[in-house]
Parts: sequence; C-alpha cells; structure tokens
Amino acid sequence: MNRGTMTIDHLTMTHRSPRGAVIALADVSFTVAAGEFVALVGPSGCGKSTLLRLAAGLLTPDGGTIAFAAWPKPPKRRLVFQDHSLFPWMTIRDNVGFGLEMDGLSKRERQEQAAAQLVTMGLTDFAEHYPHELSGGMRQRAAIARAFVTQPDILLMDEPLRALDAQMRLVIQEDLLALWERKRPMVLYVTHDIEEALLLADRVLVMSGQPGRIREEIVPPFGRPRDLTGRSHPEVEALKWHIWSMLEQEVKQKLQIKGTSSA
Ligand SMILES: Nc1ncnc2c1ncn2[C@@H]1O[C@H](COP(=O)(O)OP(=O)(O)OP(=O)(O)O)[C@@H](O)[C@H]1O
Ligand SMILES: [Mg+2]
Repeated sequence: MNRGTMTIDHLTMTHRSPRGAVIALADVSFTVAAGEFVALVGPSGCGKSTLLRLAAGLLTPDGGTIAFAAWPKPPKRRLVFQDHSLFPWMTIRDNVGFGLEMDGLSKRERQEQAAAQLVTMGLTDFAEHYPHELSGGMRQRAAIARAFVTQPDILLMDEPLRALDAQMRLVIQEDLLALWERKRPMVLYVTHDIEEALLLADRVLVMSGQPGRIREEIVPPFGRPRDLTGRSHPEVEALKWHIWSMLEQEVKQKLQIKGTSSA
C-alpha cells in the first residue's frame, strides 16, 4: 500500500510586484495522504492558487516547507487549471497524448493510452478536432482526461469546473469521481462551490484571507465509492451553511457591502 504523504509545514508566501508586496499565505500547515481527495475553499484572494502552484513546484515559498515522504519513487505531480489548459494548436488526441510524451512513452504506447482515455471520456468523436471547435464542457473534459491519463500520484486542480454551467458541472463531477476511483491519486482540489467540495472530497479545508490561513477542516458524511446522490443528505445543507457562515463576512467585506446578516 502506498503510504506517501505531502506535508505542508508553516508555509508563507509573499508576492512582490512594482505595486508592492502582497502576503498571499501566512503560516499554512496540513498533510494529505496518498489516496486522499482534499478540497480547498476560501474567499477570493486567500491564496488558494498560490498554494497549488507552490505544491506543484512552480513557485518557491518564502518560508516553511512542502515535503513528500514515504513514496516508492518521487511522486508525479500534475496541475490542472480552470482554463488555458489545452494547447490550441494540437488536436484533442494530441493534447491528451501530450502528457504521456513528457513521461517518455513510445509513440505507439501514447496512442493506445490516449485512445483508451478518449473512449472513457466519451471524446472519441472529437479526437481530430481542435480545442476551439469544442464546447467549453467538452474542452474541460479533455483537459481532465489529459491530467488523468498520465496517472499522476498527485493531482492539483484549480477550479477545473468553474467555467461550466450547472448541468455540465454535474456531469463532469460524476466523470471526475469515476476517474479518480480507478487509481485514487492524491488530489488537492480548489473550488468556490461549497457543495462540490463536500460531495467530492474526503476533507474540506476552509481558508480565510488575507493573508491566507487554514481556518477549519470539515469531514463530509460520506463513504467511498461515492456518487452525487449525497447532495440530498440532510447534513450537507447544514455543513454548507456552516462553511458559508465562515466565508460570508470576508466575501462581503471584499465587495464592501455593509451590514452583513452575521454581523
Ligand atoms: N504574481 C503575483 N503578483 C502579485 N500578487 C499576486 C500574484 N499572484 C497572486 N497575487 C496576490 O496574492 C493573493 C493571493 O492570490 P491567489 O491567486 O493565490 O488567490 P486565490 O485564493 O486563488 O483567489 P481566487 O479565488 O480569486 O482565484 C491575492 O491578493 C493576489 O492578488
Ligand atoms: Mg485562484
């Protein structure tokens, strides 16, 4: 059994630009285990994307550490963004196969694995299309297919479903749960959708800003494997309101709305 972990310890990060310095993260600590799906929610600007980019190794923290312990080999990390995640000049087939090329697989292996993934995601009819020829939902489906096809150990997902309408989101949430169940990679999943966080994740970390910190950890009342019927679970409604009560004031402050209901 894989006992790998990712431990984030007293992480701090300040962004510096000509307009000044912004403390994005202040003293963030938590651990995620292999096979865990952890969601991050928090007000806009609390440092969620910064945290994912640090975990992906794209940024270096000012203070604190991100350590990967007890993996059989160094864990493979993949970052999925909300948009801009497909190459516009490549077909869907080549986009999905691209991650495998980075992993050094032969052309034949790449084609086979990419083709299988396209079948799984219902994208075979679009294999030769370019991203701009697809709907937003299909594009995001292809981006998710590309992230999973390489079988990463750690998947860092930054609001992957944000641009989708509510119905498309439901469909892709189900795809996501099904894909995740196959190999159960470690997932750190940023979302603004509190219900989505509760329905997908094993733990939900609620952040406060600014600067960003972890404020509370919530464990949704579901086992695995899971589908989306948990939506109607009576506890979900209560947890949604509990999380929203933590975020409400900061969100409204940001919009400079006075006299919040919880004030
Ligand atoms: N490259 C940068 N240069 C300067 N400031 C930055 C940079 N990137 C982020 N910031 C600032 O750091 C803070 C955290 O940004 P980050 O994008 O991590 O927040 P977020 O929680 O992902 O927000 P959102 O929910 O809106 O996506 C914000 O105040 C942001 O303006
Ligand atoms: Mg962000």
